[in-house]
Amino acid sequence: MKTNILMVCLGNICRSPLAEGILKSKVNNNSFFIDSAGTGGYHIGNPPDHRSIAVAKKHGIDISKQKCRQFTVEDFNKFDTIYVMDISNYNNVTKLTEDPKQKEKVKLLLSETDLKNKEVPDPYYNDNGFEHVFQLIDNACINIVDNLKN
Ligand code: 4NP
Repeated sequence: MKTNILMVCLGNICRSPLAEGILKSKVNNNSFFIDSAGTGGYHIGNPPDHRSIAVAKKHGIDISKQKCRQFTVEDFNKFDTIYVMDISNYNNVTKLTEDPKQKEKVKLLLSETDLKNKEVPDPYYNDNGFEHVFQLIDNACINIVDNLKN
């Protein structure tokens, strides 16, 4: 049985593609299915934002082949954990839940760090934010992998 983890943000072009690529880079793909999605549908079918592609590449990770898709209610059945980047994402995803078990699957990504309840900021309008976002997500993914091993 694979562990299925979904990363979610608003556009699925900046933060969650990075989170998908970073977590994939830290695990054995035979044991995990990792994907990402956006709550919004503005960029469906598009590759990640060129700034996310660039910061990932700088750290040796290729996310250029990812394609944007929108979150659907079926994702509650397909995934064990659904990590959201901010509280707005949390509200958008949890309003689609049909039972408490689904809601339990939804967590803020940074709840896996010392920055409990803190958000991964949206870097879309901030060219300088991408390295900071990379570091926040990387830190959380290190802890996710450590916790799964223990
Ligand atoms: P993301 O960033 O949620 O990290 O992918 C955004 C990308 C695009 C938009 C908003 C946020 N947008 O409004 O198009």
